[in-house]
Amino acid sequence: MAKNFKRYLVTSALPYANGPVHIGHLAGVYVPSDIYTRYLRLRGCDVLSICGSDEHGVPITIKAKREGITPQQVVDRYHAIIKKSFEGLGIAFDIYSRTSSDEHTRTASAFFRKLYDDGKFVEQTSEQYYDEEAKMFLADRYIMGTCPKCGNERAYGDQCEACGSTLSPDELIEPHSTLSGSVPVKKQTTHWYLPLNDYEQMLREWILEGHKEWKSNVYGQCKSWLDGGLQPRAVSRDLDWGIPVPVEGAEGKVLYVWFDAPIGYISATKELTPDWEKYWKDEETKLVHFIGKDNIVFHCIVFPSMLRAHGDYILPENVPSNEFLNLEGDKISTSRNWAVWLHEYLEEMPGKEDVLRYVLCANAPETKDNDFTWKDYQARNNNELVAVLGNFVNRALVLTKKYYDGVVPAAGELTEYDRATIEELSQIKQSLESNIENYRFREALKDAMNYARIGNKYLADSEPWKVIKTDAERVKTILNVALQITANIAIAIEPFMPFSAAKILRMLAVEHFGWERLGDMSLIEAGHTIGEPELLFEKIEDEVIQRQIDKLAAIKEANLAAEVKAEPQKDECTFDDFQKMDIRVSTIVAAEKVAKTKKLLKLTIDTGIDTRTIVSGIAEHFTPEELVGKQVLVLVNLAPRELKGILSQGMILMAEDATGKLRLVQPSEPVKAGSMVG
Ligand code: 2FM
Ligand code: ZN
Repeated sequence: MAKNFKRYLVTSALPYANGPVHIGHLAGVYVPSDIYTRYLRLRGCDVLSICGSDEHGVPITIKAKREGITPQQVVDRYHAIIKKSFEGLGIAFDIYSRTSSDEHTRTASAFFRKLYDDGKFVEQTSEQYYDEEAKMFLADRYIMGTCPKCGNERAYGDQCEACGSTLSPDELIEPHSTLSGSVPVKKQTTHWYLPLNDYEQMLREWILEGHKEWKSNVYGQCKSWLDGGLQPRAVSRDLDWGIPVPVEGAEGKVLYVWFDAPIGYISATKELTPDWEKYWKDEETKLVHFIGKDNIVFHCIVFPSMLRAHGDYILPENVPSNEFLNLEGDKISTSRNWAVWLHEYLEEMPGKEDVLRYVLCANAPETKDNDFTWKDYQARNNNELVAVLGNFVNRALVLTKKYYDGVVPAAGELTEYDRATIEELSQIKQSLESNIENYRFREALKDAMNYARIGNKYLADSEPWKVIKTDAERVKTILNVALQITANIAIAIEPFMPFSAAKILRMLAVEHFGWERLGDMSLIEAGHTIGEPELLFEKIEDEVIQRQIDKLAAIKEANLAAEVKAEPQKDECTFDDFQKMDIRVSTIVAAEKVAKTKKLLKLTIDTGIDTRTIVSGIAEHFTPEELVGKQVLVLVNLAPRELKGILSQGMILMAEDATGKLRLVQPSEPVKAGSMVG
């Protein structure tokens, strides 16, 4: 039986502060959690929405090393970017904290210490991989090798990104250090382990029997972990970035990032309110963790075991997790820069916050991986937001302005059709609520948009712009109904598109309504004067979309060039072979296209020896104008040959990258033409 809760605690996975947030994060976690919490707030529920930056862990220290800065500088930079961009998109956390805060250090240390004092850990000394060059143990992403499950040669010590398996360094085939590239040795070290096997029974009962309603991807992963049997899991690491293990003699050891990060939810709640305990320790609180699918085991198995080991915390009621969002057919990847970054989107598409929220929700990967494409983004904006939602709201407001100078007309007697429309509208609310409460946000968004669809049809069928000529009284009723629908839309879309909801209220010149008013067809009184109508959404033109597509194409090209391996070395040549080639620094003095060809340029070259003609197949890479005056290297004693009737005497040396793009090879500074190269 569904339980009644007094309050809600909603957490959203803490993003790693080693990069900005992208659309994959948004679609998977933050847009759904924001819809859910906005809905609860609108209903007047006692709800806290908690998030913050996850600032420990190896990816952050690796990034710092690569950039020659400290880990603190890395997290300071990205924490600021992430926080600001969430705000920009209207993701309304009650707190966006960070795990490098003092409160978090205190809370996580105390949590560990209690478990330690209560004898909940097993202390174990074992042999672990050690990099003798870097003088470091190789935890998590400091070690790489071949995945034993799928054969991916670039699997990490904690996870294989190709098949999603969770791994330990010992499972990697042919491991090597990502710090020095060297083959690691084994060295003894002591760590603390949480014996997950002790919690197996509790987890089986709680999840497998008690939470059959969880999304099938989440339930399925939990079941396969539990059926596979749980093992003790290390909760400390030999690293110098993280929260020190609060035990004597544990110098150089820190809490494992996945031990401290979920405690971040608790420390952020503590920072937010002195009443934090009632949100964490009272069975009448509904705790919901919104997470990405690669976080399932940590939130459903490890963190609940930690909470149980501590003894006085509640467990989550649900852990909604989406599948992954791809971008233009490829997996989103931070390291390959294959993403639409939120902070860049907000800069490049100002005023289009709700468009992104809408598209990411309408296309959310709720049950399977989905693809974000810019064409789909444009189509959803133009065909749904502009043509349906914006069009309806605009017509209702503009006609009221035009016929009644903005004063809301009173409704006369309702027709059969009006009643049928109102009846149809009244059906939506229940479905909308049930979809949100059961984490089916795509369906819920369709419900919210149905108010506008029905409204549009109502206006199209009622044709007030025609009826005004014959029955002015009837038009008053039509527009009154249309304005009531508009006000209802402002309530229904608020969890999904808060900026547009606020804009509708502004244009109607009315105060904010609570959720309980949804369905009310007398939200706006007759005689009230509305504000100035503006367009709710604007059509997005092809060139705007093309700019984004071109940006991704450039990234793809750069990735391709970076990924392709160099051609194998050619057969050996002798010094004499090389000596035969006469290469000179030369200057291009004139250049023109060879008529009736696409690829050829006729170049006049000053070789220092003479001025001669060379025909070169580079017309698709350079314009004649950009070549004139450039110094190049020319193989001057290449046997002449005729091309399109022109005698070509030599060859210009070019560098060709993996994508086939050509670049001139030039001396690092100007040299007298004729200088020898060798
Ligand atoms: O996967 C991630 O991005 C993690 N930083 C999520 C942490 S969630 C929580 F436990 F803090
Ligand atoms: Zn794998």
